[in-house]
Amino acid sequence: MSAPQHPIQLQGISLDSIAQEFGTPVYVYDGEKIASQIKSLQTAFATVPLKIKYATKALSNIAILKLVKKAGEGVDAVSIEEIKICMLAGFAASEIMYTPSGVNFREVQQAVELGVMVNLDSLPLMEEFGSVYGNTKPACIRINPHIMAGGNAKISTGHIQSKFGISIQQLPDILEVVKKYQLKIVGLHIHTGSDILDAEIFLRGGNVLFDAALNFPDLKFLDFGGGFKVAYKAGDPSTDIAEVGTKVSAAFNDFCEKYGQKLELWIEPGKFLVSESGYLIVESNVVKKTPQITFVGVDSGLNHLIRPMMYDAFHDVYNLSNPEGELQPYHVVGYICETDTLAKDRLLAKVSKGDLLVFKNAGAYGISMSSNYNSRLRPAEVLVWEGKAQLIRKREEFDDLIRNQVEIDI
Ligand code: LLP
Repeated sequence: MSAPQHPIQLQGISLDSIAQEFGTPVYVYDGEKIASQIKSLQTAFATVPLKIKYATKALSNIAILKLVKKAGEGVDAVSIEEIKICMLAGFAASEIMYTPSGVNFREVQQAVELGVMVNLDSLPLMEEFGSVYGNTKPACIRINPHIMAGGNAKISTGHIQSKFGISIQQLPDILEVVKKYQLKIVGLHIHTGSDILDAEIFLRGGNVLFDAALNFPDLKFLDFGGGFKVAYKAGDPSTDIAEVGTKVSAAFNDFCEKYGQKLELWIEPGKFLVSESGYLIVESNVVKKTPQITFVGVDSGLNHLIRPMMYDAFHDVYNLSNPEGELQPYHVVGYICETDTLAKDRLLAKVSKGDLLVFKNAGAYGISMSSNYNSRLRPAEVLVWEGKAQLIRKREEFDDLIRNQVEIDI
């Protein structure tokens, strides 16, 4: 049996040639894919005033943020550092939503001083915010709708035992704090999880928002969060964005009639915008046969792509160097000194030492969750945009690793 060909080209540039030019390991992103994902959301939600607030945490390179900005959309940031990166990319404070989770109030104050709107995620934060700012700073409230959704327990955020948001059952308490400080609440928010397949879940979340919204007369938007599922392999289901768009927009327009005002509909996609745009190219260091398994050891690992080890996530992998080779079973493993399986039991076109392998769906939560574990260096990042492959982050060097260590006499 020979392998199907996977000559992966981005805008006419082959991944092999990018690896030759920039070395491995390297993250490569297809800017056109990101732009087309944004377009498909804009089309799916064409009957409502849609605002996309890209979840910066998925991939926060400034070049990627600039693409989102160029498409006329905004961002969601979860830390003061993400806010600053977004500003460096050219976003105005008014285009940034700050959705912190249990942060120190000093950080919230910094965000407010920069002019960014805060998404309040606890009753104590609402109290503190109210006592300092009263009704002078418009804010949003993050509701926990008590909906169990998402690809796995680690990425489900809207259920009753989750730390996120303020329980919808505590709505009377929310309203009391709003009244006490005359808070100016202009938005309500939910985010129930990641890898959510069914349109139904977004509709259920919407219903929670709609019911709660009737208690807030000054709303400007409802924020449905992110979580759209993308395909990780051939035949894998993905969220039907057209269906979500049609159904959620219809329900939203009905609600706006009832509310008596046309609100904006916000969404915060991360994976949907960048997952499929990204590729991690690595080199095979060793092909090691054991009595039971043939391992391919590569020049990368869970320090660069933690999703397989952290969530049992599946990332498709191909041999770029021998695309027509005979298929053979392998475990592709990283060089980290603990169990570090990137891909288990995969049929790959015969792999030899020095071959280039590529992992797909590496755009979201790839480099943004990377680390220096084992004192390893982070990869370079390259963006393919308008037919050109350009370096957008230098490969780390040894000096980067020790920069902040302080030597003392021992
Ligand atoms: N909005 C908020 C408030 C979020 O917390 C998140 C993701 C998103 C939007 C975007 O969700 P997305 O569209 O990307 O599913 N590291 C995990 C995913 C964690 C998601 C955390 N929050 C993974 O690699 O699967």
